[in-house]
Amino acid sequence: MKVLTVLGARPQFIKAAPVSVALAVGDHEERILHTGQHYDADMSDIFFQELPIPVPAINLEIGSGTHGAQTARMLEGIEQALIAEPPDWVLVYGDTNSTLAGALAAAKMGVPIAHVEAGLRSFNREMPEEINRIVADHTADLLLCPTAVAMQNLATEGLAARSRQVGDTMLDVQRSQLAAAAHSQILDAMGLEPKSYCLATLHRAYTVDDPDRLAAVLGALDRLSKPVVLPLHPRTKARIEAFDLPVFTGSLRLVDPVGYHDMLYLESHAARILTDSGGVQKEAYWLEVPCVTLRPETEWVETVEQGWNRIVDVDPEKIVAAAEAEDWPTRPPPMLYGDGAAADHIVRELERGPEPHGVGDST
Ligand code: UD1
Ligand code: UDP
Repeated sequence: MKVLTVLGARPQFIKAAPVSVALAVGDHEERILHTGQHYDADMSDIFFQELPIPVPAINLEIGSGTHGAQTARMLEGIEQALIAEPPDWVLVYGDTNSTLAGALAAAKMGVPIAHVEAGLRSFNREMPEEINRIVADHTADLLLCPTAVAMQNLATEGLAARSRQVGDTMLDVQRSQLAAAAHSQILDAMGLEPKSYCLATLHRAYTVDDPDRLAAVLGALDRLSKPVVLPLHPRTKARIEAFDLPVFTGSLRLVDPVGYHDMLYLESHAARILTDSGGVQKEAYWLEVPCVTLRPETEWVETVEQGWNRIVDVDPEKIVAAAEAEDWPTRPPPMLYGDGAAADHIVRELERGPEPHGVGDST
């Protein structure tokens, strides 16, 4: 079986790593197409060094741009790759512009598409990611869902026949990398003790592209009673500079983006995690670290239902209250994201081949 995996952004390198391992074990041929959406060494190369992901066979080096320009350039490059060497499957992950371009290019060429992390919905169409994941799901031939909620979302949209619940590959990768992450020196380097600090990440357009929202969130983080380690996404760094925000002199400790192992170590030992990231909310849940989500809603509703995640949007008082609260669950959360072998289940589904188009669903 020949698979072309389309990746482009940080979380996709992480999600794809266990699937690459499972494809290699199954003696399948995987070629990675890196769109180049993320290109800084600490947003891309470091994950290929730390995790078992093959070196990309193709790097389109698209870089940053408006949604239309970026996606259009990707579409053209992916189409050329599909013409040059047609695979049995195109594999796309998550909800970025690289996901959208991979799915659209393959759909137009009639190449079967498998979408990993299918069925997630925020029900907020102002998020660029919501548009990307809806289009990817409705063009894909195989919808590989992490949760029962995702399966239900797809059933509601008439896509049940193509949906399979396989679990979450981010859980696979976390479990497989915990031992390697234990060697991280990052806390020593920062002079921090376990559980003496909070960890924050911020990068959503909603949170960081609006100067008032960004200032409100950073101001609240700066007021917390513990130091707050914030590895700065390049988008957020650019906005802080462009908006000429005040210098924060309280609890905030801004650092460059960190690799996956340092991030896993920082997450594991944090007293609280505050984030607008999708992946980081789940990672906090699996590590049993209380999470405060800096968004108006979440796709990962199970984490909220189980009491391990609180949604506070960008309201400074709610952010501080949730982060300082002590009434978090004490019992381990139920495992709702698969058995830690999602990648193996994904490869078994790919080996079965795509369903004939349009069978059993309403699209
Ligand atoms: C993208 C995804 C988002 C995902 C996030 C993961 C889309 C629409 N958004 O958001 O869903 O959660 O990745 O991190 O696909 N930049 C750099 N260096 C880089 C990459 C980006 O400087 O290596 C800067 C550029 O100024 C760029 C900005 O960050 O304009 C935004 O990058 P972009 O890839 O468009 O979106 P993200 O915010 O990273
Ligand atoms: N991550 C990382 N270094 C960082 C910040 C995040 O390795 O400095 C990892 C994080 O542990 C998770 C993934 O990147 O596995 C999440 O990516 P991001 O928050 O950029 O995107 P999202 O999940 O919101 O799409």
